[in-house]
Amino acid sequence: MAELDWSNLAFKARQTNAMVISYFKDGQWSEPELTSDFSITLNCFAGVFHYANACFEGAKAFRGADGKVRIFRPDENARRMQSSGGYLDMAAPSEELFVKMCVECVNANLEYLPPYGYGSSMYIRPLLIGVNPQLGVNSSKEVLFAVMCSPVGTYSGKAGLTPTTAVISRNYDRAAPNGTGRFKLAGNYATSLHPYNLAHGLGYGELLYLDPATKTKIDEFGSSNFLAIKGNTYVTPLSDSVLPSITNKSLQQVAKDFGMTVEKRAVKVEELAEFDEVNACGTAVVITPIHKIDDKPQLESETVTRSYTFGQADVCSPVSQKLYDRIRGIQNGTEEDTHNWCLVL
Ligand code: PLP
Ligand code: COI
Repeated sequence: MAELDWSNLAFKARQTNAMVISYFKDGQWSEPELTSDFSITLNCFAGVFHYANACFEGAKAFRGADGKVRIFRPDENARRMQSSGGYLDMAAPSEELFVKMCVECVNANLEYLPPYGYGSSMYIRPLLIGVNPQLGVNSSKEVLFAVMCSPVGTYSGKAGLTPTTAVISRNYDRAAPNGTGRFKLAGNYATSLHPYNLAHGLGYGELLYLDPATKTKIDEFGSSNFLAIKGNTYVTPLSDSVLPSITNKSLQQVAKDFGMTVEKRAVKVEELAEFDEVNACGTAVVITPIHKIDDKPQLESETVTRSYTFGQADVCSPVSQKLYDRIRGIQNGTEEDTHNWCLVL
C-alpha cells in the first residue's frame, strides 16, 4: 500500500501508478493503453483549448469491509458521458469501453485505493476531449478518452459530515435557459470559477444557483445537486438546467426504501424557510449538510436580504445522516446492495 495519511486526503489530484487512454480516429477507438506517463502532447489548435470541446465524469471506487473493491454505478456515468459527448457532437465511448477502462484504471492503482474505515475513497475521473487541430468553431472529429484516478477524502477538506454554509448566486448563473446545465461539460465549470472564488472569499462553502430564466426557483449547487428534507418527504428540484446526479437518483431510491415520499418538482426559493434539513449531494461531496443559506442581491455586496438556517452548525441532521449511512454502507459492502448498484471487481 502507498504510504498516505488515509484519514486526511482532502480532494486533490495525486500521482498514482497509471492512467488509461484511448483515441478515437477514423471512426474507431484505439485499444486502451495503460500508461504511467500522465503528460499528453496535443496540437495547440486542438478544439479543447479554444472552444471547450470537453466533458468529463466523476465516479468512485471503495474498498469494502469485506476487502472487496466496488465501483459505484459506473454504467450510469458511461450513459451520462454519452449524453454530454452527444451534445458536443463528439464521439463518446460505449458503456462497455467506458466501464472497462474505469476497471483497468482502478486495478492498476489498487495500492492507492484507501483502506476501509477512513471515510476515504478512490475518485475516478473519466475525461473526453477534442484533439484534432481546428480553427473554425466545429465539433471535434478526433477525440481522446482518458481515465485517471486519485485517492480522496472529503470534498470540503473537513471531517466526515461537517455542515457547511452556502450563498445564493443571484448575479451569476452557471447555466443559461435552454443551455448546457444538464450536461457535464467542462465549460459549465469555467462559468462557475469566478462566482465560486467570490463565495469562498466571503467564507461560504457552497454556491447555490437559481433557475437562470426566472431566478425564482432553486436549481443546484455548483458542484452538486440540492436535496431537502421536510418531515418524511425528500424534495429535490426538477429543472432542465440541473445536472442529473447519480448520487441524487440513488438517494431518492434509498429514501423510498425508507418509506419516505420523494418529490422532484420546482422548488421556490422562499420554500427554504420550510425545510428541516438541506444537503448538497454528488459523487465528490457525497452528502454535505448545509447549515445556513444566505440570499444576497449580489455576491459582491455586503447586504444579506434573507438568511435561512437548518439543523445545527456542527452536527448532521438525523434523516440526512440516515441516508448517508445507507449509501456509504452499500458502497462499503456493509449494507445489502439490493438494487445491484456496485460493480464488484
Ligand atoms: N451537479 C453538478 C454541477 C456536479 O458537478 C455534480 C458532480 O458530478 C453533481 C451535480 C452530482 O452528480 P453525481 O451525483 O452524478 O456526481
Ligand atoms: C463530482 O462530484 O464527481 C464532480 O465532478 C464535482 C466536481 C465539482 C468535483
